[in-house]
Amino acid sequence: MKKVYVGMSADLVHPGHLNILKTAQQYGEVIVGLLTDQAIASYKRLPYMAFEQRREVIENIKGVSQVIPQTTLDYVPNLRSIKPNYVVHGDDWREGVQRETRQRVIETLAEWGGELIEVPYTKGISSTQLNRALREIGITPEVRLKSLRRMLQAKPLLRFLDIHNALSGLIVENTFIETPQGRREFDGMWASSLTDSTAKGKPDIEAVDVSARMTTLNEVIEVTTKPIIYDADTGGQTEHFTFTVRTLERLGVSAVIIEDKTGLKKNSLLGTDVPQTQDSIENFCQKIRAGKQAQATDDFMLIARIESLILGKGLDDALERAQAFIKAGADGIMIHSRQKTPDEVFAFCQDYNRLENRKPLIAVPSSYNSCYEEELQAQGVNIVIYANQLLRSAYPAMVNTAQTILKYQRAQECEPQMLPIKDILELIPGTK
Ligand code: SPV
Ligand code: MG
Repeated sequence: MKKVYVGMSADLVHPGHLNILKTAQQYGEVIVGLLTDQAIASYKRLPYMAFEQRREVIENIKGVSQVIPQTTLDYVPNLRSIKPNYVVHGDDWREGVQRETRQRVIETLAEWGGELIEVPYTKGISSTQLNRALREIGITPEVRLKSLRRMLQAKPLLRFLDIHNALSGLIVENTFIETPQGRREFDGMWASSLTDSTAKGKPDIEAVDVSARMTTLNEVIEVTTKPIIYDADTGGQTEHFTFTVRTLERLGVSAVIIEDKTGLKKNSLLGTDVPQTQDSIENFCQKIRAGKQAQATDDFMLIARIESLILGKGLDDALERAQAFIKAGADGIMIHSRQKTPDEVFAFCQDYNRLENRKPLIAVPSSYNSCYEEELQAQGVNIVIYANQLLRSAYPAMVNTAQTILKYQRAQECEPQMLPIKDILELIPGTK
């Protein structure tokens, strides 16, 4: 019997997939190379169903004799080990990100006289359409909460951006660019205390209380599906923090970050220009333990933020804290710095990566903004947070418009820098 290889993601299985599998059966024994979450995440959004769930669906489709993992978008490793007589694929991969993958399949098959069979694209149904419809329906808190841990498993570096209202949430949710490696977008949202406080006209000193912060979160959650990491500042009193953890879980927030400061919190980017007190390791560990105990799910993450570099306490102190906080139950570490270069963060990474029980590491390159994501990834950083760029860019744009109206005493001169009226009316679906 001849061997037929079919590579697929099979997240939202539709008649187009069945058409490909039916065609494949006509050529011989069908082996499905099911793309792993990692392989899919390398060029598009994480699938809705995890690998094992997708495997169960495909294994039970008539005529599929075997399902094996395909761990890269590239078919070549699996093809070389199986040496199939045929590969069957939809003809839609002739254009776009998969073009090169297709070319390599053709060249590899030629090594043993194999052949690529292309099935005409099934009209009227596609995963892209189904994905769009699903996103319009939204997401449950449980699925959203879990999605951060799944993403950390599937991608080497996650990219988060600040939110401070529903509109900023929509920007993080929907903004993307196409690149030769696939679609590039943000993986999730950073519920920043700085930008939320600023948007409310309050200083970033925990003056905006948890209820007000939750109002912003609810607004954002209503119109988005991506995972959220919540900036809980110091976490407040331990007894209060445990309630915050429960509230966040209920809303479907994936992670909370608390910083090891105490007393009246001031923004980290002020560094030692203002009085700031770091919490003792012992106290902060106690807060971490209490937060972990309060958790209702296994999926929620509590991340400890280390302020040693911000406060000039040095690398050794930062590392000692990282070890202690992980031992106390932290699911990740955020290392913060306000240097112009990433040197001290990179030095921390070197030591941190050697820890036996190393947990995901988060960096916030606000001041060392010349640093590329690729460099952070090479240092072992797992999540990069762009903590305030959306609000910082919105503010000067609005001030400029206000000044332009004052100057000309009419609004016409502002038009070139504004969203056309027609477009604002179409921006939010359902406005018309
Ligand atoms: C925030 O965005 O509120 C943060 C990061 O905590 S920083 O402003 O750099 O302290
Ligand atoms: Mg903050």
